[in-house]
Amino acid sequence: MSPFTLTRTLPVDATAAALRADVAHGLTRSPKQLPPKWFYDARGSELFEEITGLPEYYPTRAEREILRDRSGEIAAVTGARTLVELGSGSSEKTRLLLRALPRPAWYVPVDVSESALAGAGRALAEEFPRLSVHALVADFQSGLALPDTPGPRLVAFLGGTIGNLLPGERAEFLAAVADLLAPGDALLLGTDLVKDEATLVAAYDDARGVTARFNKNVLAVINRELGADFDPDGFDHVAVWNAAEEWIEMRLRARDETTVKVPALDLLVHFAAGEELRTEVSAKFRRERVDGELSAAGFAPRRWWTDGAGRFALSLAVRV
Ligand code: SAH
Ligand code: AVI
Repeated sequence: MSPFTLTRTLPVDATAAALRADVAHGLTRSPKQLPPKWFYDARGSELFEEITGLPEYYPTRAEREILRDRSGEIAAVTGARTLVELGSGSSEKTRLLLRALPRPAWYVPVDVSESALAGAGRALAEEFPRLSVHALVADFQSGLALPDTPGPRLVAFLGGTIGNLLPGERAEFLAAVADLLAPGDALLLGTDLVKDEATLVAAYDDARGVTARFNKNVLAVINRELGADFDPDGFDHVAVWNAAEEWIEMRLRARDETTVKVPALDLLVHFAAGEELRTEVSAKFRRERVDGELSAAGFAPRRWWTDGAGRFALSLAVRV
């Protein structure tokens, strides 16, 4: 079995402090909103995995199709010895890339979900002899530092997770990733594409209600971590297409007027009946926007591949 290490780059109380700050800020502003990273405790990570298998949720299948066809080319073009993956989750699709890399190779999965990293990292270390796995529990949006592994490096940001950042956050994030890399290193970016509203809304409001449970999980996280008394059954899952911004918004809508206690913050949060809390945006892209944002951050776009149905894209860009 190959080596596996798991490093927390932030102390546990830094995560708790960040959650307190996000809740204090996001639930006292109007309209109310929270960053999506708080979905992903162990239960949230499991629910996300369940989402990836839903008939309505096409992005995972579409991206897997591209990776199946293109991993060999990606490995050849980049010559990568180290694969860094941001928001790696279960690393399920990543196996396609890892299989294509020359040996020995280094894999650095980065995620806020320690349970997802531990599960994926151990399985990969057994499955891939001669792969060194250095898992990092870290927030990819704040002060990310990478271990000293051999180059060239390929940073993969898959699943369309970049769409969960707001435009200003994306620019900051891409520039920070560019700063971590040397000229000639590469970025592999998965982006979900703009398409008809019905397909998009169904992907975020599935018939079995798994996405609704995923959305409401953030309330369970706040209850557990901050002693709050949200009643998840008092909120409805809402998924809407914002055509002006070209993103899906997930929200939680209070059924009735209610006041929620958040003892850790000494805070009372009032919801009017029908008031909504935005829990996630999931931006959908066109090629010009992806290429423009990559170029602005210091990357030269080199390849653009879509799945056969044109639903999802993978871009390969090189740090200039
Ligand atoms: N890449 C996988 C998982 C996508 S789900 C796929 O394509 O299927 C998004 C992943 O990003 C989750 O595992 C979540 O825990 C992680 N994540 C979300 N926000 C994060 C942040 N700010 N820093 C690090 N990881 C984050
Ligand atoms: C992780 N991310 C790309 C998913 C998305 O599609 O925006 C999260 C998700 N939210 C609802 N379903 C899946």
